Amino acid sequence: MTASLLRWYEREARELPWRRTRDPWAILVSEVMLQQTQAARVVPYYERFLARFPDPAACAEAPVADVLRTWSGLGYNRRALALHRAAGVVAREGWPDDLASLPGVGPYTAAAVASFAFGAAVLAVDVNVRRVLARSGLEVEPTPQLNQALMELGATVCTARAPRCSACPLADGCDGPEEAAQGGPGRPRFEDTARYVRGRVVAALVAGEALPEVGPERLARALDGLERDGLIERSEGRIRLPGDTLG
Ligand code: ADE
Repeated sequence: MTASLLRWYEREARELPWRRTRDPWAILVSEVMLQQTQAARVVPYYERFLARFPDPAACAEAPVADVLRTWSGLGYNRRALALHRAAGVVAREGWPDDLASLPGVGPYTAAAVASFAFGAAVLAVDVNVRRVLARSGLEVEPTPQLNQALMELGATVCTARAPRCSACPLADGCDGPEEAAQGGPGRPRFEDTARYVRGRVVAALVAGEALPEVGPERLARALDGLERDGLIERSEGRIRLPGDTLG
């Protein structure tokens, strides 16, 4: 089964820029961006971010407001803060043996960087890969190529809601998507979420525009949360990006 998965990957894989490098900084940037964001959306941000911050030192030396500006539009801005802090650690001390000790790097991202940058024989299990393994029952000896193949299958064929089993190299003997038929719980509209308001606030600060008109309570909650997470600073009634001297 592994062999047919790898053949499928060779044939069908999307051309994604982080698959052409083994530079740990580039891989880390890609994997942090790919947490919660689809690959096609990540590509332009990845290229822009690495052009601006080609190595950990370049990122660590930049004011965090610059990093947030370069990140802006991708969402989940806390990831950018964590990446900035991780860059500082790597610039000062080099890459740690335990990648999960870096800010913003959980077990999945640590495994992905260990595999793709350092060639470690570890399985990088994100939600997509967990679903592929659960449905197919596949047992694997992890290699970088196999991690990429499992991610690709989970992202493009063995999807949560509408899997394309007829196109799947693992369909033989697979129990199939039991949960797919049930639909799953409804999700709130994005505009109704706290994440939406927080994202709008950061985008407004980056653009030097007025704060979003979302009602005083939602705005106050968003500002409190952003300040707590270190994404904004408040003093004397003024709100700015951390370390930003322009505002
Ligand atoms: N999602 C998380 N990591 C990925 C990768 N390396 N390629 C494509 N999608 C991913």
